[in-house]
Amino acid sequence: MAPQLANALVISLTKRMNKFRLNRKKEHLSLASQRFRCSFTALYGDIHLPHNCLTTINPTDTDLSTNICGIIVKTPLYINAITGGALISELVNRQLAILAKKFSLPMAVGSQVASLNNSSLRFTYQVARKYNPQGLLIANLPATASVKQAQGAVEMIDAQILQLFLNPAQEFIMAEGDPVEVNLLENVAEICATVSVPVIIKEVGFGISAKAATSLAGAGVKAIDVSGWGGTNFAWIEGCRNPSSWWKPFTAWGLPTPICVADVVHNGPNIQVLASGGVDDGIRALKCLCLGAVAVGSAGGILRQLSKGLAQGEKYLEDYLHQVRVGMALMGKRTLPELAQVPLAVTGRFKELIEQRGIDPQFYSRRGN
Ligand SMILES: Cc1cc2nc3c(=O)[nH]c(=O)nc-3n(C[C@H](O)[C@H](O)[C@H](O)COP(=O)(O)O)c2cc1C
Repeated sequence: MAPQLANALVISLTKRMNKFRLNRKKEHLSLASQRFRCSFTALYGDIHLPHNCLTTINPTDTDLSTNICGIIVKTPLYINAITGGALISELVNRQLAILAKKFSLPMAVGSQVASLNNSSLRFTYQVARKYNPQGLLIANLPATASVKQAQGAVEMIDAQILQLFLNPAQEFIMAEGDPVEVNLLENVAEICATVSVPVIIKEVGFGISAKAATSLAGAGVKAIDVSGWGGTNFAWIEGCRNPSSWWKPFTAWGLPTPICVADVVHNGPNIQVLASGGVDDGIRALKCLCLGAVAVGSAGGILRQLSKGLAQGEKYLEDYLHQVRVGMALMGKRTLPELAQVPLAVTGRFKELIEQRGIDPQFYSRRGN
C-alpha cells in the first residue's frame, strides 16, 4: 500500500475511533446518571459498626486527614475518574473541580486517551486544574497505555498521581471493545518504573482480588483502588449501548467492594488499599475505612447528584463528610487510623464470603476490645 494511502487510512480510522469514543463518553454520563438496580446487595448491610454510648468525641473534634500514595490529604473521600473528551465533559469536570476545591477532595479526571490523539480536547480535562490550581489531581489512562501516553497524561493536567484502569468486563460487553493484552503486567511495570508520579491501579466496578493485587504490587503500583461491584455497573451501561441481550446475566458479575477491601488488606500485598464501587454515603465509607481502606472514592454517587445541579452536588458532599464525622464520633474515634482497630460484627453473605477467603470473622469482632 502507498504510504500516503496508509496514512489517510490511519487518520480516517483514528477520527472514527475518536468519534466512537466521544459518543461513548456522552452515553456513559447519561446512563450512569440513572441508577442501576439489582436484586443483590453490595454487602455493606452485613457489616455492623460499633456504637459507643460513652463517646467523648464530638463530630467537630474528628480529624479526617489521610495519605494517598504518600501525599497528605484533608479528607479520605476522592472524586473518582468520570469523564473528559466530549464537550459536556468540560462542564462536568469544571463542576467537579469546583466541588473538589471547596471540600479539599482529590479528583481524578476520566480516561485521557481521546485527548492524546486530539489536542483540541485537552481543555475538557485541563479545566480541572484551571478551577482547582492547588488541588490534588489524578491523571487517568487504561493500563494498556504506553509510557509516553502515561507521562503525557500526567503533564496535561499537572497531576500528582496517575491512575491506570483495568476493565476487561467492560471491554468484552462493549460492542466496540478491545481484546485484552497478554503483556499487561509488563506494561504496568514499565509505566510505574518510568512515569514521574506514583501509580494507582483501579478497576471500573468489577473489583480486584488479593491475588491480582499481589501481581500488581509486584509491577510497582503504589496503591490498589479495588473499585468493586455494587455501584456503577458497566455491564449494564455497556449492555444498554449494545443491541444484543446476552450480557444481561453479567450485571451480577464482579467482586463486591467490601469483599475486595477485606481480601486485599488480609491476603494481599503490603500496599495502600482505596475503596470505590458504590461507596455512596458516609456510612459505607466508614465501613470500608474500618475494613482497612485508607481512602474512599465516589464516581456515580457524585455524578447522580451533580446531574440535579451544582448546589445538589455540594449538599451531597457536605452531608457525606458530616456522616463520616458523626459516625466516627459515635464510635468514639477521632482519627482515621483508629478506625482500622474498631470491632465490627459481620454477618450474612459478607461473613460467608470472607470465610471462604480464609479470613476469620472473629478477627473483626474481637479486635479493639
Ligand atoms: C460516567 C462514568 C465514566 C467513567 N469513566 C471512567 C474512566 O474514564 N476511567 C476510569 O478509570 N474509570 C471510569 N469510571 C469508573 C469509576 O471511576 C469507578 O471506578 C466506578 O464507577 C465505580 O465507582 P462508583 O460506584 O462510585 O461509580 C467511570 C464511571 C462513570 C460513572
